[in-house]
Amino acid sequence: MFLTHLECTACGLEHDWQLLQNLCTACHKPLFAIVDLAAAGRTLKRGALATREKSLWRYREVLPLPDGVEPVSLGEGGTPLLRAERFGRAAELSELWIKDESQNPTQSFKARGMAVAVSMAKYLGATKLAVPSAGNAGGAVAAYAARAGLEAQIFMPRDTPRANIIECRELGAQVILIDGLITDCGAEIAKRKRAEGWFDMSTLKEPYRVEGKKTLGYELAEQLDWQLPDVILYPTGGGTGLIGMWKAFDEMEALGWIGKKRPRMFSVQATGCAPIVRAFEAGAKSAAEFPNAQTIASGLRVPKAIGDFLILKILRQSNGGAVAVDDEEMMRVTREVGSSEGLFVAPEGAACFAALKSLRHSGKIASSERVVIFNTGSGIKYLDCYQG
Ligand SMILES: Cc1ncc(COP(=O)(O)O)c(C=O)c1O
Ligand SMILES: [Zn+2]
Repeated sequence: MFLTHLECTACGLEHDWQLLQNLCTACHKPLFAIVDLAAAGRTLKRGALATREKSLWRYREVLPLPDGVEPVSLGEGGTPLLRAERFGRAAELSELWIKDESQNPTQSFKARGMAVAVSMAKYLGATKLAVPSAGNAGGAVAAYAARAGLEAQIFMPRDTPRANIIECRELGAQVILIDGLITDCGAEIAKRKRAEGWFDMSTLKEPYRVEGKKTLGYELAEQLDWQLPDVILYPTGGGTGLIGMWKAFDEMEALGWIGKKRPRMFSVQATGCAPIVRAFEAGAKSAAEFPNAQTIASGLRVPKAIGDFLILKILRQSNGGAVAVDDEEMMRVTREVGSSEGLFVAPEGAACFAALKSLRHSGKIASSERVVIFNTGSGIKYLDCYQG
């Protein structure tokens, strides 16, 4: 393993990786895992990746978890990058790709983050995991906690899609339904965790979910033969995947695998909960809490993200942007994607296809550009949104 230490993303203070850590002890902002890339690159060669296992653990040298420790794994990662020929043609775009994350264990990209975070939490001695979840993160924690032999407490808003709630229970987790939003669930965990002995697995409140999510960036580069796309559309709630990918791009540049070019990164949110879009448009460095957050895309119903300042920095540095899509449009586009590409995407994924249309319309994406959309989950978990 080549993990050297944890570093605060805001004040730079170093923390010991050998202790279970949440936020920076000085400024309470997220911590990043820092890997000795020069050392990792001596055994991890991009040309040899194809000979390794398909799961995200093929990037083991740039992931945490000491050598010889068996990861808690259900075969996460290694998802297909599919050409979206018909949808792309209709949007007058020459090259559109879908990274289909619904093919992960528990049918969402949350499996990537949780595989790595649960592996590390177990290794560092946690026995009870707690997480606030809008839906998919809960299912992933429940699955990996069960696999690891750990206890899981999942705090979800009462109106979370039924499939997510049932999934968590059937995976042996304790589900606590809260009358409120994911932020209220997080506050409840913060209040009780010390007395209950829970380790808080909230988005960006522990350092290793980002490490799992960064493999999205590694895989994308690998699948595109080390040429990053021109544009990435990412459905943004807490922003872990976006932040993780950006970290992966920097790491791959340091490894000598890619050059300086970066994709323009676009955050896609729901009109009923668009704190990042508002802050981006206002030129703000952080995002105010979005009042009365509401959307069928439960993963996007995050009124306040602790990594807001990191997301906004990436959108600006990359010369990208932020787009809001309303729920009706998400539903409409779900069927367009389904019937043209054969994928029943989650509303969060559909939001990106809708955003693509509007960005093509406004000329912010040119027809010759190569665009990648992340379908982060499966429509099958959102059946409550559909009528018979
Ligand atoms: C399907 C889906 N897409 C997107 C998101 C948002 O992910 P992130 O927190 O990485 O922004 C979530 C989070 O719950 C989700 O479940
Ligand atoms: Zn700090």
